Amino acid sequence: MTAELTDLARHAADAAVLNGDSRTAFGAPRIESARDDLDRHGLHAMVRVLRKALPDGEFHAEPEIAERLGVAPRHRWLLRRWLAELTARGWVSGDEQTGYGAPREVAAPVRPDLRAVCADLGFAPELARFFERANERLPELLRDRVLAQELLFPGGDFRTAEAAYRNNPINRYLNAATKEIVTWAVGELTTSPVRILELGAGVGGTTADIVPGLNDLAVDYHFTDLSSFFLDTARAQFSAYPWMRYGIVDLNADLPNQQACDIVLAANVLHNAHHCGQILREVHNLLRPGGLLIFVESCREHCQLLTSMHFLMSPKPGVAQPGRTDVRAGTDRIFLSEREWLDELAAAGLQTQVVLPETDHPLAALGQRVFAAQKPL
Ligand SMILES: C[S@@+](CC[C@H](N)C(=O)[O-])C[C@H]1O[C@@H](n2cnc3c(N)ncnc32)[C@H](O)[C@@H]1O
Repeated sequence: MTAELTDLARHAADAAVLNGDSRTAFGAPRIESARDDLDRHGLHAMVRVLRKALPDGEFHAEPEIAERLGVAPRHRWLLRRWLAELTARGWVSGDEQTGYGAPREVAAPVRPDLRAVCADLGFAPELARFFERANERLPELLRDRVLAQELLFPGGDFRTAEAAYRNNPINRYLNAATKEIVTWAVGELTTSPVRILELGAGVGGTTADIVPGLNDLAVDYHFTDLSSFFLDTARAQFSAYPWMRYGIVDLNADLPNQQACDIVLAANVLHNAHHCGQILREVHNLLRPGGLLIFVESCREHCQLLTSMHFLMSPKPGVAQPGRTDVRAGTDRIFLSEREWLDELAAAGLQTQVVLPETDHPLAALGQRVFAAQKPL
C-alpha cells in the first residue's frame, strides 16, 4: 500500500500547487533563497535585541543576558535557542562557560523587506506584517509585556493564522495530501462510521480542506483543541456538517480517555507533546488495527519563528516545557527532525506509509512534512 498511497497523495498535493507547471517552473532556488532570507530576518531581530545586553568587549552568560533584557522566566528557553542558533552560525562567539560576546556585523537579507520574502514563499502580506510586528516588539515579547496571541489574533481576527497555516503553497500541498490520505482511508476502512479524532485543530486550517470531501460518507469527526477559544468559531464555521463533534482534548493528558478511533489527525500540534514517544504510544493504543495517524510537522528550525510564533510555545508558569524528557531533551528544540519522527513512529509500533514532500520537491526546502503511519492489522 505504501507506494500506491504515496502516489495518490503526491499527485493530489502537486495538483494543488503546481497549476499544471513543472516542478522546475515552481522554482526551488527562489524558495531556498527566500527561506534563508526569512531565517536571516529572524536572526537580525535577535541580534538587535542582544546588542543591548552584550556591548562590545563584554562577555556574559545566558542568566546575566536574561536579567539585563528582563526576559520572563517562561521565555528563557527562547533566549537559549537564539544563542544556540547564533553561535552555530558564528554570529555570536562564546559559550555558556566563557559567556557570550557581542554579536558580529553580518550580511543583511537579500530581500530587506519581509513582504518580499513572504511573497516569494507564497505567504500573504498579513503574515509578513505579523513577523514585522513581532520583530519590532521583541523586547516587550521577551518581558511578557505583549503576548504573541495579541499579535497573531489582533482583535480576534484569524486571518494572520490562516495565512500561516492554510493560505500558502506549502500548506495547500500538505492539506491536499492529508485530504487524499484521509479520503482513501475512509474508503478502505471497514468500520462504520469511521471515527476521526483531530487533535489541536485550532483555526481549522487543515479541517476546512478535509471535511467537505467527507460529507456523504459515514464518518464521526471529533474536532478538538486544548483551548475553547477555537471551538465556538469552529462550530459556526463547520455548521453545515452535523456529523462533526467538538471538544477539549489535551494531547498531554486526555488521550488514554478517548474512544477508540480509526484516524487520528494532528496538524502542527504534536510538537506540543511533553514526550513525543509517549504520545505516539498513546495514539497507537487509541487506534483500531489498520487505523492511521496522519500528522503535519515542521522538521527544521525556522529562525523567524523563534522571534514570533514560538512565543506561543512558552509554557504558563508551573507547566512543563514540551520535549524536556524526550528526544529533544537538553536542546530546547520544539521541532523533531524527519529522521527523529520516523524513529519515534517505529518505536511506537506504527508503520510509516507516507512522508511528503520528498526531498527533491521544491517545497521540501521549507522543512514541513506530512506523515501517515498505520497501526498494523
Ligand atoms: C500551530 S496551531 C495549529 C492549528 C491547526 N491544526 C492548523 O494547522 O491550522 C497549534 C494548535 O494546537 C493547540 N494545542 C497546543 N497544545 C496542545 C495540547 N497539549 N493538546 C491539544 N492541542 C494543543 C493550540 O491551541 C493550537 O490550536
